[in-house]
Amino acid sequence: MTMPEHGQPWAVLRDALKQKGRKDANWRDGRTAVYVFNAGEAVAEIQKEAYAAYMSENGLGPLAFPSLAQMERDVIDMALGLLHGPEGATGAMTSGGTDSITMAIKTARDFARAKGLEPGPANIVLPQSAHLAFDKACHLMDIEVRRVPLRQDGSYQADVAAMAMACDASTLMLVGSAPNFPHGIMDPIEALGAVASAREIWLHVDACVGGYFAPFARRNGVPVPPFDFEVEGVCSISADLHKYGYAAKGASTVLFRSEALYAFMPFDLKGWSGAPMKTPTLSGTRPGGAISAAWAIMNHLGVEGYCRLQGEVCDTRERIEEGVRALGFEVLGKPLLGLIAFRHPDVHSFAIYGELYKRGWFTSVTKEPPSLHLMLSPRHADYAEDYLLDLEASLAAVRAGTAAKAEAVQVRYS
Ligand SMILES: Cc1ncc(COP(=O)(O)O)c(C=O)c1O
Repeated sequence: MTMPEHGQPWAVLRDALKQKGRKDANWRDGRTAVYVFNAGEAVAEIQKEAYAAYMSENGLGPLAFPSLAQMERDVIDMALGLLHGPEGATGAMTSGGTDSITMAIKTARDFARAKGLEPGPANIVLPQSAHLAFDKACHLMDIEVRRVPLRQDGSYQADVAAMAMACDASTLMLVGSAPNFPHGIMDPIEALGAVASAREIWLHVDACVGGYFAPFARRNGVPVPPFDFEVEGVCSISADLHKYGYAAKGASTVLFRSEALYAFMPFDLKGWSGAPMKTPTLSGTRPGGAISAAWAIMNHLGVEGYCRLQGEVCDTRERIEEGVRALGFEVLGKPLLGLIAFRHPDVHSFAIYGELYKRGWFTSVTKEPPSLHLMLSPRHADYAEDYLLDLEASLAAVRAGTAAKAEAVQVRYS
């Protein structure tokens, strides 16, 4: 595209934008179970209005925009209240999970350096199921990543003993997920906390998916094991607002057990031509709308609203779990929240995925082991039965295709 010589009216462009989305994944009607967290029209309207209210303001300038600084403070205080932040715990808002994880690693690295980390390449130790954001951040910072295979007992949880063995004097961080993305399973954070405390290694909990889900699931009676600052040894937590916090995209939180740990995060420079500037996170400019929308949604939903929405997601997951088991699938581990992965003993998951895609479903897959993967939203409550019917039809279609191919081969060689 070349830039048009003369600008076009907004009415024309508005239509063009609508047109462009026609081939996108159909998330509004519940047939997408990845990328989008759909809590319904009312929540979406609040996101939009609250975002627009501070869309031009910049979180980079807390003195110019004390409104945003206060809203960020409020968001962090609410987060720490949910995640057992002890007295003095603190944090900041970032643009997303990858940003929060990157900042946590940078903070742990600078903390370790200040403590006198062994010279030579530093490393972090994490379970094989941890999000690739850790590798991305380590690539940027030249840190070695030690991925450790999961336990081989069908739990799909981190193997804490093997992770402890992988640590050495240059390990600056241990990682656990709450839950991990590929299987939706919570790692044994208490056991990781015990290793981290004994070895004096920073433990980061990646609660990007569960940070704003697990506390409410627990209030609803789900047996969520301790995973946050309640666990001794947890130094930092990443928790995304733009996932199960139902905030507009571009909103996450990175939290630290104390001011003393947080102090290693901000970047400050006086030695350049511009005005002195201190930034807490990776971004310079920080979109005011992402902060105001998160603040508004958290205050709009409150504990009661989140309990209701997360209850709906858990109910839907349970219905789907039951339905896929009835069709002969195996659910990986024991999911507790909104993610679920499952596979069939004799039909390849990726072939079933292809059939579901043809039927209008945009979902995800897990590679280890090959499985179907769903990240459920409250809106899916109305679509679980449709999904199960299409899953059954997809399974039958793959089986019929396989049988037809086998028959064709037999005819050709008989
Ligand atoms: C467990 C987990 N951690 C981190 C991330 C990265 O978050 P983002 O895509 O917001 O950078 C994700 C994304 O799905 C995730 O599931």
